[in-house]
Amino acid sequence: MYEQVSHSLLNAILDDLKPEIRRQNLRHFYTRLGANFYAIYSLFFTLYGHREDFKEQMLRLVETMAEGYINRSSELEGIDIQREQDHNWFLSQNWVGMALYTNGFAESLDDLADKTPYFQELGINMVHIMPILMCPAGKSDGGYAISNFRQIDDRIGDLKDLHRVAEEFRKRDILLVLDIVLNHTSDEHEWAQKAMSGDPCYQDYYFMFDNREVPDMFEQNMPEIFHESDPGNFTWNEETQKWVMTVFHNYQWDLNYSNPAVFIEMLDIILFWANQGVDVLRLDAVAFLWKKIGAASQNERNAHLILQLMKDCCQVTAPGVLFIAEAIVAPVEIIKYFGEDAIIAKECEIAYNATLMALLWDGIATKNTKLLYQGIKNLPDKLERATWLNYVRCHDDIGFGFDDNDVRASGYEPFAHRKFLVDYFSGKFNASPARGMVFMLNDETGDARICGSLASLAGLESALESDDQTLILASINKILLLHSIIMSFGGIPLLYSGDALGVTNDYSYQDNPSKSDDSRWVNRPTINWERAELRKKQGTVEYTLFNALKKMIAIRKETSAFADFNNRELLDINNEHLICFVRFNPLRPAERVMVIANFDAKPQYLDLETLNGKGINFYNHFVDLYSGRSPAQHDRQIILQPYQFYWLTEI
Ligand code: GLC
Ligand code: GLC
Repeated sequence: MYEQVSHSLLNAILDDLKPEIRRQNLRHFYTRLGANFYAIYSLFFTLYGHREDFKEQMLRLVETMAEGYINRSSELEGIDIQREQDHNWFLSQNWVGMALYTNGFAESLDDLADKTPYFQELGINMVHIMPILMCPAGKSDGGYAISNFRQIDDRIGDLKDLHRVAEEFRKRDILLVLDIVLNHTSDEHEWAQKAMSGDPCYQDYYFMFDNREVPDMFEQNMPEIFHESDPGNFTWNEETQKWVMTVFHNYQWDLNYSNPAVFIEMLDIILFWANQGVDVLRLDAVAFLWKKIGAASQNERNAHLILQLMKDCCQVTAPGVLFIAEAIVAPVEIIKYFGEDAIIAKECEIAYNATLMALLWDGIATKNTKLLYQGIKNLPDKLERATWLNYVRCHDDIGFGFDDNDVRASGYEPFAHRKFLVDYFSGKFNASPARGMVFMLNDETGDARICGSLASLAGLESALESDDQTLILASINKILLLHSIIMSFGGIPLLYSGDALGVTNDYSYQDNPSKSDDSRWVNRPTINWERAELRKKQGTVEYTLFNALKKMIAIRKETSAFADFNNRELLDINNEHLICFVRFNPLRPAERVMVIANFDAKPQYLDLETLNGKGINFYNHFVDLYSGRSPAQHDRQIILQPYQFYWLTEI
């Protein structure tokens, strides 16, 4: 958009650019800067316009984008241009992701590059390698407490190894996803060290206070994330005799985004990694980016403005790079991370679908789909050119953050229902087969989250222990059922390393003093590659799971109705144990797939007559894309075995 004030500022900035920047050929850079400048200026002005140094900061911002562009290789720029032309590329059903820790999956980054064929074997073509940057031993929060944003942790490799990974991936059309931890640094980061040595400029990178006055005001409304291990949101720092804001662990110092220098530093880091060949950046803990007294300091409007500004700036330099929002917050809040008041995504193109994840686990515990239906119905429609990351498990805990109104509408009392879920997944509820661990129990509110591997939560660990074939089969079927939903729901399915092999809980963290107070380590296993060979041996759990998922992935990729264009219709079917939705290809509506899944431990029936008038011709015959067979049918009813799913097309 053309607007006089910003345009004349842009002209002034271009005149002031460093000579070495002006000398470069910046054609694409200038066209994108011109297109985005009004938005960039408006956002930057809203956030920082009150400052005397606003214009200098604005110049610094433009220089940062320009330097990022100059450092971008022609190969990456070629990819940018290709993706600009094919701008819906990431909505395709072709993408299937996996998240992993380098040292859980391989020995090192180099070894990870050698293991690329494993991804191909399963059909994975988007790999999220969890934090790989320097962080202090023992105070790392699993890599999310970074002490150097530009240096790879030497225990797993160096930049050269990462380039090799990126190259191996690119050859095979696998997308590389890396984390950018925007919200905080380790207290051992250079900025924090300088702040500790008394440098006021770096103290302004964080939130530091001489006494409890301001911290106490903040505390009145800020929830605690790790209240068992790290109570409170502030930590006393001896060196400076100040209170520092530390929302997560006491060694993770929150960055102060009301300081434009922080924003520009982090943008520079984003562009640095974009230029190393990263396709997608996972922006960690984005809900926390803006702190405000009197508010929970989560999902603040300015947090969104910061993300919009990051996106607009990144598009100028590296438009082919996508952002994933990791905001594990209430359903109505999550959706805002695509950008509000816009038609196409203006913040992050991809967001974790934490709502669906929690709802799926509710279905497993209750064996019914009441809340799952309610929650999906109330999931707001996404913007165009935005997509979900649909997952069942990840490296973190599970929070049952459903909307309380949905819980009530499903006939439950929210407090009692959440307690039931925690009891169920921690195995305390009557004969529950789940083996999860209670995480961060809050005695006052009774709130808690759950940790545990997918396999252990789905009952595989307990079933293997009792060597009960029926229970083993039931847990395998639950695992497949959950995947059948994330693969067909609309969005990019994200598998978690180990889940395709049925890896159960890893209790070894309990013997490590730096991990023992964080039970999320129970679901961050190390893959045993000898055991993983069993995926090739018929009759093993590994074989069954791996090959079923491999097949599901292959079929997903061939099914155009599974691409994500807000093309899903939930069907009410009068059976509270089943979930049923239709996916269709918006360009070729005849290409439709009806997904039905049974969350019950007993067989269930789908009465085809209930589909009457819903666009499904129940006189037609159906075939299941997954098994290639027609479903068992009796008297206009389709029969689903316990935990069975169908992907049906009409023939
Ligand atoms: C994210 C990460 C989690 C980490 C937190 C703080 O939620 O997924 O593992 O503890 O951010 O960085
Ligand atoms: C995330 C989430 C929270 C989670 C935490 C640590 O940012 O907001 O739900 O428990 O980090 O895993």
